[in-house]
Amino acid sequence: MKIPERDGFASRFGILVAVAGSAVGLGNLWRFPYLVGNNGGAAFILIYLLFVFLLCLPIMFSEFVIGRRTGANVFGAMKKLAPRSGWLSIGVISVVTSFCILSFYSVVGGWTVDYIIRSFSPGFLTADSGALSDTFKHFISSPLRPAVMMLIFLGLSALIVSGGIKNGIERYSKILMPVLFLLIVILAIRSVTLPGASQGVNFLFNPDFSKLKSDSILAALGQAFFSLSLGMGCIITYGSYVKKKESIVKISVISSLADTLFAILAGLAILPAVFAFGISPGEGPGLVFITLPQIFAQMPGGMIISAAFFVILLVAALTSEISLLEVVVAYLTEELKLTRRTAVVLTFAVAGFFGLLCSLSEGTLSEYRLFGKNIFDLFDYTASNILLPAGGLLMVMFTGWKMKKADLLDELTNGGMHTMSRYLFKGVVFSLKFLAPVAITFVLLYGLGLIKLF
Ligand code: PHE
Repeated sequence: MKIPERDGFASRFGILVAVAGSAVGLGNLWRFPYLVGNNGGAAFILIYLLFVFLLCLPIMFSEFVIGRRTGANVFGAMKKLAPRSGWLSIGVISVVTSFCILSFYSVVGGWTVDYIIRSFSPGFLTADSGALSDTFKHFISSPLRPAVMMLIFLGLSALIVSGGIKNGIERYSKILMPVLFLLIVILAIRSVTLPGASQGVNFLFNPDFSKLKSDSILAALGQAFFSLSLGMGCIITYGSYVKKKESIVKISVISSLADTLFAILAGLAILPAVFAFGISPGEGPGLVFITLPQIFAQMPGGMIISAAFFVILLVAALTSEISLLEVVVAYLTEELKLTRRTAVVLTFAVAGFFGLLCSLSEGTLSEYRLFGKNIFDLFDYTASNILLPAGGLLMVMFTGWKMKKADLLDELTNGGMHTMSRYLFKGVVFSLKFLAPVAITFVLLYGLGLIKLF
C-alpha cells in the first residue's frame, strides 16, 4: 500500500501568509492597543519591541527547527528528537495551551461576528459612550447570543482546517492576508489624519518610562509571545509543513517584522482616533468594542467604516484561530490516528465547551473567580503570561542545550545551501543557550512577584 504523502505548504508565499496569518490576529488589534493604553504608551512598546527581536526571534528559530527537522506534530516531533524524556512535556504544554487560548479567543472571535452584524443595525452607532458601553456589557454578559456567535466563529475556523494545509489553511490565508493588510493601512491613514490625532501619535511614539506599571514588563513579554504565536507549538506545527529548501531564518524574520508592523498599524488606526475624540486610552478589553463604534459614529460613512473594521478583526482572528486548531488536529491525526474530519469535530467540541465556560464567565458564571479573575481572564492571563513563556523557555533550552550544534546549523542553513556567518550563528547559539533562557526566567519570576529587585 502506498503511504499518502504528508500534506504541506505548496509555495513560499503560502508559508509566509500562513505564518503571518497566525501571528497577526486579535493579539494585534484587540489586545495590543488596550495593553498599550493601560501601560502608558510608547515605553511599553519599546520594551515589547526589545522582547520581540531579542527573545522571541530565537524562539521562532527553535520552533521552526524542531518542526521542520521532524516533519511531525508537537508530540511526534519531541518523540523523534528526544524519545521517552522530560522534553515530551513540550508536547503536553502545547496542547493544553492551545485549548486555553482557543477558549477565550473563540469568544472574542464571536464578539467580532456580532459587531459586524450590529454595525448595520440602525441606532447602534452613537456618540454616547455610556450607551455603547451598556450595549457591550449587556451583550457579553447575556447567556445565549455571545455563545452562539462563538460557535459560529469556531465552526468557520473548523471548516477551513478540515480542508487541510494546501487546500485549507494556505488557500484562505493567501486571499485573506493581503485584504487585511490593505484594510488596516486605509484605516490607519483615516485615523492619523483626523483633527487632534497628533496627541495619539505622540502617545505611541514618545516614551515616558514613569508611566510603566509594576506588571508592565511581564505583560509586554506575554504579549510578544502571544502576538507571534510562540511557546505553544504553533510554529512547530506549521514548520513541519515547510519544505526543506525554504529558509527558516528568512521566514522567521519576515513574519516577525510583518506582525510588528501590523501591531504598530493597529495602534495607529486606533489610538490617534481615541485621542481625537477625547476618550480614555485605558479603557481595557472593551476598547475596540466600546470606543471605536463611538468614533465611527462621528465619522462620515461610519456604518461602512465600522463594518469594515470588524471584518478586519474577524479575518485576522480566523487566520490565527485555524493555527491554534491545527496544533491539536495534527496531534490527533498523527498520534491517535484519527481522520482529519474526526479530529476537527473532536477539537471543535472540546474547544466549544471551554469557550462556553469563558463566554458565560462574563455573565452567568461571573461569580466563579480565582485571584480576582473570572474564567475568561484567568485563561488569558495563565496562557499568555505563564504557559507561553514557560513553553518558549523549554523550546530554546532544547535547541540550545540538547540539540547538536551541527544539526542546528544544518536546519538554519538548509544543509549549507544558504550561508550563515560564523558570528551570526554564534550569536544565535548564545541567545538560545543563555540570553533567552535567563531573560525569560527573570521576567517570569519578577512579573509573578516571586523575586523582588529592591
Ligand atoms: N498570534 C495570535 C494573535 O496575535 C494569537 C495566537 C497565539 C495564535 C498563539 C496562535 C498561537 O492574535
